[in-house]
Amino acid sequence: MAVFDRLAQVNALRQGYESNGWALAQHLFPTEVVDSLLYQFQTDLGGCKEDYKGRWEKGPFTNAHCFESYAYDYPAQATMLWSMTPWMQALTGKELLPAHSYFRVYRKGDICKLHLDRCAAEQSISLTLGYSDDIEWPLWVSEQRYEDEVKKNVHGELLPPGQKLSFYKVPMKAGDAVIYKGMNHIHGRNDPNPNTWSAHLFLHWVDKNGPYAEHAFDGNAGTVVRKARFEFPETV
Ligand SMILES: [Fe+2]
Repeated sequence: MAVFDRLAQVNALRQGYESNGWALAQHLFPTEVVDSLLYQFQTDLGGCKEDYKGRWEKGPFTNAHCFESYAYDYPAQATMLWSMTPWMQALTGKELLPAHSYFRVYRKGDICKLHLDRCAAEQSISLTLGYSDDIEWPLWVSEQRYEDEVKKNVHGELLPPGQKLSFYKVPMKAGDAVIYKGMNHIHGRNDPNPNTWSAHLFLHWVDKNGPYAEHAFDGNAGTVVRKARFEFPETV
């Protein structure tokens, strides 16, 4: 199956991403790996509101509170963002630095309102980690591209009503990822979540040589980017 030829997959994704601003990476992770990752998130952060150690938030684009986690609050999540950097560089052909990552668990009936991302999400991945009921919940991505000048006016806000847009509704199984330019393509999940819950990981990078390089490490470079120093006893 072609998607398991990873070099061919990267070439196809790179072409699609360059022409359309998004691409679907099917089977980016084996089901066993996303199951393990999600179980690790639940084990470390909690599986119910009473013991959840991450963030219980209602962000600007969600209609209800969700379980969330921010990469720089949870080292395993930051490590995953950093370790995906070579793959994302291969796919974009750019020298990238990681910016930030959010983990989110939506509930039944939730939506993610259609929006554009802030500048710290120049190149992004939306990875589906799991669905409680195995019902695919598509990511909507606009066919229209918004250039940076328009983006400066929209600035991460919801678009004014009445705009007619065409959307791709990208079906995603657990382990699938959509690579997208969230600053330039309006995106969200505008159908109510059909599952009791669904879990997603959002990973974002900036071009090290581009206009948004200051958002590398989401402003945490001073504390995160450090040189290690190992010390050994003088006698073994
Ligand atoms: Fe977004």
